[in-house]
Amino acid sequence: MGVLVRGGTVVTSSGEFRADVLVDGEKIKAIGDGLDAGGCSEVIDATGMYVLPGGVDNHTHFALPFGGTYTCGFDTTPAAAVGGTTTIVDFAPQPRGMGIRDAILKHVEESAEGKSAVDFSIHGMVMDVNDRLFEEIPKLVDIGIPTVKLFMAYKGTPYMVDDATLLRALQVAKPAGVTVMVHAENGDLIDLLQKQCVAARQVEPKYHAVSRPPIVESEATYRALAIAALAGAPILLVHVSAKEAMWAIRDAANRGEPAYGETCPHYMTLGIENLSRPDFEGAKYVCSPALRTKDHQDAMRAAVKNGWPQVVGSDHCGFNWAEQKHLGRDDFTKIPNGAPSVENRLAVLWTYGVAAGRISRQRFVDVISTAPAKFNGLFPAKGHIGVGSDADLVLYDPSGESVMTVKNSLQGVDYCAYEGMKQSGHIHAVLLRGKTIVKDGKFVGCPQGGRFVKGQPYGAAYTGL
Ligand code: URP
Ligand code: ZN
Ligand code: ZN
Repeated sequence: MGVLVRGGTVVTSSGEFRADVLVDGEKIKAIGDGLDAGGCSEVIDATGMYVLPGGVDNHTHFALPFGGTYTCGFDTTPAAAVGGTTTIVDFAPQPRGMGIRDAILKHVEESAEGKSAVDFSIHGMVMDVNDRLFEEIPKLVDIGIPTVKLFMAYKGTPYMVDDATLLRALQVAKPAGVTVMVHAENGDLIDLLQKQCVAARQVEPKYHAVSRPPIVESEATYRALAIAALAGAPILLVHVSAKEAMWAIRDAANRGEPAYGETCPHYMTLGIENLSRPDFEGAKYVCSPALRTKDHQDAMRAAVKNGWPQVVGSDHCGFNWAEQKHLGRDDFTKIPNGAPSVENRLAVLWTYGVAAGRISRQRFVDVISTAPAKFNGLFPAKGHIGVGSDADLVLYDPSGESVMTVKNSLQGVDYCAYEGMKQSGHIHAVLLRGKTIVKDGKFVGCPQGGRFVKGQPYGAAYTGL
């Protein structure tokens, strides 16, 4: 009762070749030319298509509390599926007074399990610092969680931590093989700049970027890298948008420090001018760090080509514009931060990276699937097309052009951040552990249900990133 994916071009992070892929149950059984379809219940014609490992999105926020509201829940994860992502790694919010371990289990049990249409893993997310935290971080590996995120930003909310907390977290994480992820922006400076903007009645969405200039990101990035060097610990700087921050990560890595980076499709393609759209449309583009000028977008694309950020994650946040973004109608500091893009991540990077001749297909596969699988200790079950790996496959048809739009979106919100932008090719089919969940570009259900996948510790270190 297998499946044969016939006649496509298999792309991995290290090469590509014409081959059939034979799936047996949930796993890839064989890869080769002219494989026998005998015993297969389904043969999928992949002629003219690229067969990619299912996307692993290192950075999603489903059911995230932020600014007095919540992002869309896991019932909207079919959007990940049609976007070519078969595994999301979601951040578990930590309710005040609850440990991060219990917060993770709560997120799995109450928010994700039974609802997710794709497989999911979880990052810890520190939102309540207490001494128990430093005992808990190393023990996360016991429940299959090898990553935790700390925030240097969002002053006045439960998110922001001080430098000493970050150092202690890095110190206890390192021997356990837990990778610390950091949101690097100087929360104190942003807080002051925001107050100055509001006092001057500068309250429109464009002041979001004014209060979060590139230097507040690069300063925090230098500091985070220095603190990680002090601890001798690996660090993954997430959603990097400023070129100076990206170069700082590159330079730290060149010095031999285990410093890694993640950027996002919007920082490679969407500019700061979107925040000035009239009639409060700019609120759709309020995310942190802020969107930047073209030189930063160009630098992010070059960086992805050069391998300085290992990962391109979506930082998906499903907030509705009509209600949720309007919470900040009269004050940009009250606009919930984040934009939806789990559905668009692969298509944006393909269109403006691969099809535009800026990055290779191998690099594409690495940043959207293989490297994030490694970081999260999921490789080679996830992020790879190899015998024994999970049969999570994306068939990308590179032919034709369309336009990205909210009209056919499954993200559960009332806008698409890439509305009207060109898309090259499309995701034709997606298999999750051997079962077709997307056919002819449409979500067809996930009867087996998305599964909680546990990660091994020392993800980055063991896999030699
Ligand atoms: O604007 C963003 N990125 N919102 C989500 C929370 C975070 O900082 O990742
Ligand atoms: Zn963040
Ligand atoms: Zn995020």
